[in-house]
Order: sequence, then C-alpha cells, then structure tokens
Amino acid sequence: MQLASYPDGAIAARDFRIATAYVPELGEGQVLVRLRRLGLNAGLANRIGGPDTAYGPGIRPGDVPASDGVVEVVESRSEAFGPGDLAVRKSPWRSIDVADAGELRAIPEPDPDVPLEAHLTVLGHVGFTAYTGMMRFGAVRTTDTVFVSGAAGGVGSCAVQFAKAVGATVIGSAGSPKKVRLLGELGADAAFNHHEGPALELLRAAAPEGIDLFYDNVGGEQLEAALEELHFGGRVVICGAASQYGKGTDSRGPANYTRMIHRQLVMRGFDVTHNEDLRPDFEADASNWLRAGKIRSIHTAIDGFDRTAEAFASLLCGGNIGRMIVDCDG
Ligand SMILES: NC(=O)c1ccc[n+]([C@@H]2O[C@H](COP(=O)([O-])OP(=O)(O)OC[C@H]3O[C@@H](n4cnc5c(N)ncnc54)[C@H](OP(=O)(O)O)[C@@H]3O)[C@@H](O)[C@H]2O)c1
Repeated sequence: MQLASYPDGAIAARDFRIATAYVPELGEGQVLVRLRRLGLNAGLANRIGGPDTAYGPGIRPGDVPASDGVVEVVESRSEAFGPGDLAVRKSPWRSIDVADAGELRAIPEPDPDVPLEAHLTVLGHVGFTAYTGMMRFGAVRTTDTVFVSGAAGGVGSCAVQFAKAVGATVIGSAGSPKKVRLLGELGADAAFNHHEGPALELLRAAAPEGIDLFYDNVGGEQLEAALEELHFGGRVVICGAASQYGKGTDSRGPANYTRMIHRQLVMRGFDVTHNEDLRPDFEADASNWLRAGKIRSIHTAIDGFDRTAEAFASLLCGGNIGRMIVDCDG
C-alpha cells in the first residue's frame, strides 16, 4: 500500500493505492514474513508531504508508509526464527515482506488467551509510550488524581488503565458518548466529552477537587484547562498535541502558562524512543496486569489489508476507539 498522491484537503482513502511488488530472494539472516495485524498511528499524517521526523522521513507519492505490526514468519534464513514464529516489527504497509531478523521483536510464547492485537496496544508501542509517560515522567502515585486527555485513543486508553492499575483516581476526556462510556468501563472515576462545552467547565465538574497530574495527548484548550486546575506542585506530561497537528505555524501553546510560576507546576515532554531502558519494567508490569485482568487491549479492528487506507482515513476522523488495527488475516 503506497501513497498515490498528496491529499487535496483531508487525507482520504483515495490518496493511497495497492501496488504489486516483487518479493526478493531471502539473504542470509533474513526472513519472509506475513503481516497479521497492522497498527495505525495518526502521527503518520504529519509526515505526508511533511518534514523528516524522529519517527521517519517525510512520506511522498510512491512511498510505502510503515507502522508497528504483528508478523508471522513464513520462511527463514535466520537461526533466530522459524516458520510459524510470531514477532512485532515496524512494518511497511506490505502484506508480505522480507525483513532482517534483527528488526523483529519475538513474541516467544504466544498466549492463546491474549489477542494478537494486545501486542500492538497494552503490550506494544502505544502501551510502552503510556507507561513511560505515566510511570517515569508522571511518577504516578496511588494518591494522585490524574487527568488523561485523548483518553479513548491508542495511548490514552493504556494511560487510563495503567493509572488505574496503580490505584490512582482517573478522569478522562474523549470525543463522543460511546468513547466516554468506554472510559467508564475501563474504570475511570469520571469522564467527559470535550465537544460538550468549554474544557475548563467540563474538567471542573469532573474533578471538583482539582488534579495532581495531567497526561496530555491533545494540547490546546484542554491543556489550558488543566493548568487552571492543577494543585500546587502539580505535574504535566506532554505526550502529544493532536489538536495542534497540521496547523503549522498556527500551532499555539497554552496562553495561561504563567500559572506554572505561582503553582510551581512542572511540565515535561518526552519521546518514548529515548527510554528503552524502561522496557523490561514495562513488559513485566503490563503482562502481570494483563494476567491479573487489570488491563485489556482496547482497539478498533478493520478486516482486510486492502482496507488499510480506509482505516487510516477513519482514524484521522476519530473513528477509532483505542488503537486502530487492521486485521490482515482475511
Ligand atoms: N511522546 C511520544 O513518544 C509519543 C509516542 C506515540 C504517540 N504520541 C502521541 O500521543 C498522542 C496519542 O497517540 P495515539 O496513537 O493514541 O493517537 P489516537 O489514537 O489518534 O488518539 C489521539 C486522540 O486525540 C484526540 N484528538 C484528535 N484531535 C483532537 C482535537 N482537535 N481536540 C481534542 N482531541 C483531539 C482524539 O480523541 P477523540 O476522538 O476522543 O476526541 C484521538 O483519539 C498523539 O498526539 C501522538 O502523536 C507520542
């Protein structure tokens, strides 16, 4: 699946096309893999016709985007993998591909009770992102009241569950009644639909005693509201700023940032890719919580690799609850 042309306005499925490609012979240390599940990231949209970023180069017509996927080894010329083995990799949007074995992170003993999608959500990259932001930079505590914005998205749904798993009080925001209901099912103590009024009023109603920690995925009005409601010494973790993406030089920071002075607030951004040392802790905690039934995979599955572009366009319109994942088995 490749970008066919730059979008004229909002990104649409027609901006992509399926192309047939020649699969090269396997070299020593390489494996032939079949894509089973593909996780999609809204952030990819920023790279379409955009600049190179830490996550990869700008995407131009003819380029094949890549995001994290679960793959199954079909043929192997590597000692590390045999046919039938499952692994996670940053996967080009190709139904079948040749990969260097070193690019694959093995799923050693797949648990039949754990859906493959979990390796792209609570056990995967978005889970690791939420864990890094919540545990390392947010230093979440049982006594905290935590506000998570974009809480029904891929990262947000993990952040809510992880904060609940450590016993914090959690408030979540999302963009539809269905998403707000999901937050209740995930154990959020309060949740609001950010389309239903000014963010400050909605947050005050959901957290009348104020908040200690803000885990921010969206920025904009919700960040300003959180700065008003944080207690003295409160913390803000900047994970993303979805409301500001695509605005270029019109992108705006919080107008009320001087609240940070008088309340001695700490605001910290992070990029998960610089935190690999935390991965063993993440893997241990997330699998324990999963086994204990404290967390689960939250995802929207779209059937069929050929619907990847449709799934991506839907993700950009908020059509996902949890991570948007393409089930490529069909
Ligand atoms: N720091 C890192 O290392 C790192 C790593 C991965 C991702 N990220 C960032 O983390 C954030 C979440 O990623 P994700 O994969 O979870 O994406 P996602 O599933 O698309 O979730 C983002 C959510 O943001 C909300 N949103 C979008 N536009 C908005 C707007 N204008 N106003 C308010 N809310 C808006 C949408 O929720 P509703 O539809 O419910 O409004 C959407 O579900 C993104 O900003 C991403 O760039 C950061």
